[in-house]
Formats: sequence, C-alpha cells, structure tokens
Amino acid sequence: MPNIKLDLEYSGVTEKEILRYEQKVLKIYNDLVEKSKDKNEFVGWLNLPTNYNKKEFDRIKKAAKRIRKDSEVFIVIGIGGSYLGARAVVESLTSNFANLMSDDIRKSPQIFFVGNSISPNYVNELIDCIGDKDVSINVISKSGTTTEPAIAFRIFREYLESKYGADEASKRIYITTDKKKGALKELADEEEYETFVIPDNVGGRFSVLTPVGLLPIAVAGINIDKLMEGAKNAQYDYSDTSVKYNQCFKYAIVRNILYKKEKTIEILANYEPKLHYFTEWWKQLYGESEGKEHKGIFPTGVDLTTDLHSMGQYIQEGRRDLFETVINIEETKTDIKIKRDEDDIDGLNFLAGKTMDYVNKQAMQGTIEAHVSGGVPNIILNVKKLNEESMGELIYFFELACGISGKILGVNPFDQPGVEAYKTNMFRLLGKPGYENS
Ligand code: PA5
Repeated sequence: MPNIKLDLEYSGVTEKEILRYEQKVLKIYNDLVEKSKDKNEFVGWLNLPTNYNKKEFDRIKKAAKRIRKDSEVFIVIGIGGSYLGARAVVESLTSNFANLMSDDIRKSPQIFFVGNSISPNYVNELIDCIGDKDVSINVISKSGTTTEPAIAFRIFREYLESKYGADEASKRIYITTDKKKGALKELADEEEYETFVIPDNVGGRFSVLTPVGLLPIAVAGINIDKLMEGAKNAQYDYSDTSVKYNQCFKYAIVRNILYKKEKTIEILANYEPKLHYFTEWWKQLYGESEGKEHKGIFPTGVDLTTDLHSMGQYIQEGRRDLFETVINIEETKTDIKIKRDEDDIDGLNFLAGKTMDYVNKQAMQGTIEAHVSGGVPNIILNVKKLNEESMGELIYFFELACGISGKILGVNPFDQPGVEAYKTNMFRLLGKPGYENS
C-alpha cells in the first residue's frame, strides 16, 4: 500500500484531460527506462532503489557508525544537489531542535551544512560554535571543482589538521565524488581519505539516494534501509503503465496542463516546518531541470500556516498565474490537546479538547478552499506519516515526475547549462587564469 496518495479534486483538471497524455507519457517513460541502461545518460536514478552498490551501502553504514562514535559534530560540505537532498531528509525526520539538544538526548552528532554559500560570517560563526568538540567532515562534489565547497574544504581541512595533526585529520575526512576524475578525487587518493562514489549516470539533483545523501542521513541516525525500501516500493508502484492508476505520471501531466492554462508558478506548500528543506530540494529539482529555453514552471514554496501571514495575501489575490501543490501529512508524530481555561480571555475555549493537529488540518482545509475559490488550483499529496519509507517514496515520486514533466515540456531535464553563466563572470572578476576575456 503506497504511503502517498494524489488528490486532484481541487486541481480543476479532469481525468479526460489527463488521459489525453497517456500515449505521450508512456513513450517518455519507456524512453527513460531504455536510457537508464545506458551509462552515458543521466537516468541512473530511475533504478537506484533496486540497483545500487550493496558493498558501498554497507561501507556507508560502517562509516556512519564510526562517525557517530568518534564525532560530536559532523560537517557536510556541498552545494545544490550535493547537499539539499541530505538536508531535506535529515531535517524532515529529526527534531526541529536536534542541533540544540544535549548529546545524550540527540544521540547523534550535531550536523551542520557548509560550502553552500561564500559567506565568511557563516564559516567563522560555525567554527566558534564548534568550539573544542570532536569533528568529522564529509565533502561532497561530483565535479570536485565547485568553488563554494572547495573554499569551505580548504578552510576545514586546515582546521582539522591543526586540531588533530595530519594523520588523525585524514581519518576524519570523508569524500563523496566521482569514481575517477576531479581535483577532489585526486586529493582523496593522495591523502587516502575514505571515499564514496557518485555514479556517473546520476546528476547532482537526482543523487540523494546515492552516498551523496545516504552518508549524512545515516550519520543522523536515520534508517537508510527503510528509506531505500520506500523508494523501492515507489519504483514498483510508478512503473504501472496505466496512467489512470499511476499517480506519479498524473502529477507530471497535471502540472503541464496547468502550465498550458497560464499557471506558470507552482508553490509547494507544507503545514509542517520540518519540511522546509524538502521544499528547497524540490525547488532545485524542478527549477534546474525545467527552467530552460525560456520555458518552465517557476517552482517556489511556502511553509504554512507561517507564510499565510506574509505570502497569503498574494496567493489569494495577486496575479492569477499560480497553482499550489500541498503536502498533507495525515498522521502527526506527536500532538497537544488544547486545554480549557477558566477566564477564557483569549477566547479560545471553543477549541478546548481539540488538538493542535486538528486545528492545523482545519487551517489547511480552509486555506485550500480559499485559494481554490480565489483562482489558484490545488494539487493535494496526502502522505500517511513522515518516516523513512514515506520519505523514500516522496523522493522517487518527485524525481520520476520531474523527468517525465520536463520531457512533456520539451526540454532536457538532466542538464543545467545555465548554471555556468555566473561562474564565468565570477572567475573573470577574480582573475582566474583562462577567464580574462570571457
Ligand atoms: O544538480 C546539479 O547538478 C547541481 O546542483 C550540482 O549538484 C551542484 O552544482 C554541485 O556540483 P558538484 O557536486 O559538482 O560540486
């Protein structure tokens, strides 16, 4: 039984409109299946839940166990697809306040993400925050040459070497990079750092179920076997070639139908703050995959009800080029009953005996109805509860839908040529050899 269920009642799109895409989508899916067998295509993610390196998977679990034992702080250095997936899963499945808890309650190292900006304040403040705690780091970069993580690694490598000496430091540095090429691979071989491989045929934003995501996720104490199990169930469910019964294909189709109806902005909405980074991961997945050739839905996100008090006005009454995809977590992990108060000065006694989750759900239903009546179609994704299995399913659901959706749109969802533009200018301004006239 899938943990996630698509509800299109508020989407304004009919089953008949969806089924018109049946042949097109089946062709796209079959092409993806074919390409996933070709090592030169970036479609390896399609089979990852069933076709991954089991030996390396065990090595990830062993490394995570060692890090959990010898480190109070774990620093993950990476940017874009080399950090967002890990952060999304770690934050969705651990306490909102994990890093602030005492070690005995958290039972895992504090996890910090760095190398995803070039802010000196962030790095200095992180070093202050670490103090004299024991640290290990995981540098993640497929190319091995990305500027932001490379600068952070230079700083933290020196930090570890002066703290522990070169030998001990090298045992605390874990590298996740390409099998053969790149500066990071060269350095890892030279210094004999423990190294994990990003498969050739899996691009950054599709790599969360490779060592890129799995090592940090395992260090956080999250069960990666169950995560893969969830993804495996999704791989099976979404291989159903009947569009009528394939929710993943339907999501990909509906967003394209809405795009054609001038709904060019998709807002991913959640009612659970833990999902903030899941939205960030999703934004990269769809933005970098589809924003090409002056086409593509602009992906953005809101955390609700928080953002109803900042973005709510725009969604309700601004330009009508929006649609929303709402992630509804049906069963909350914990709940709080609202008590009766003798004086009732805040006027909340009408809620006495109800739970916070009940109130949250009514807020969600009220918001969906308000936005739909304001002209914003809503796609609802009901998720039974937040756990490893449902996370694995959600990841696979969105990845496959993204591959299909990009192909319906008519772009190549697996490249990112536009990302180079800022780098070229930055390198010219910084005087990098070879960029003088660019
Ligand atoms: O999805 C992508 O390909 C990008 O977001 C990359 O993951 C990101 O640019 C980081 O690249 P790298 O892993 O080579 O450092």
